[in-house]
Amino acid sequence: MKEVKHSELNKLEKELLDEAEKVMETAYNPYSKFFVGAAILSQDGKIITGSNVENAAYGSTICAERAAILRANALGIRTYDKVAIIAKGQDFDTTEVTAPCGCCRQMLYEASQISEKNLEIIMSTTKKDKIIIATIEELLPLAFGPKDLGIDIRKYK
Ligand code: THU
Repeated sequence: MKEVKHSELNKLEKELLDEAEKVMETAYNPYSKFFVGAAILSQDGKIITGSNVENAAYGSTICAERAAILRANALGIRTYDKVAIIAKGQDFDTTEVTAPCGCCRQMLYEASQISEKNLEIIMSTTKKDKIIIATIEELLPLAFGPKDLGIDIRKYK
């Protein structure tokens, strides 16, 4: 896990974070008024984005990260390189980075197993003045995954 300055991100990482920032505006968030954007960089260099979609039955809400994962899957994309996450409140900017919730970490871990890559997760404050990069294994140590079920998911690439 490392904290980096925005200027230390490479061109593609900056683009990934910019795409997450753009899609954040599409959040459907009448309840929390919290906007989250996620952008996946696939191993073949495509960027797939998602934003949070809330529901009056609060527990039915889908986070931005999982929205992006579902969108990528529908596009036939299951192998990832990196993911960027950014968020803001309706009336405030975040001053600490927004990290994926537990459920999204579990979904990202599954993606990392299919991808055969310890995915890097780039987490940013609204103004990009604090950025932390962590791997999914750092965010979800001792993860439960397909290997625990004796399943080789590489063939689902
Ligand atoms: N949310 C995300 O989209 N991603 C996260 O990692 C944390 C939480 C959303 C869900 C809900 O719409 C709002 O933020 C407040 O929890």
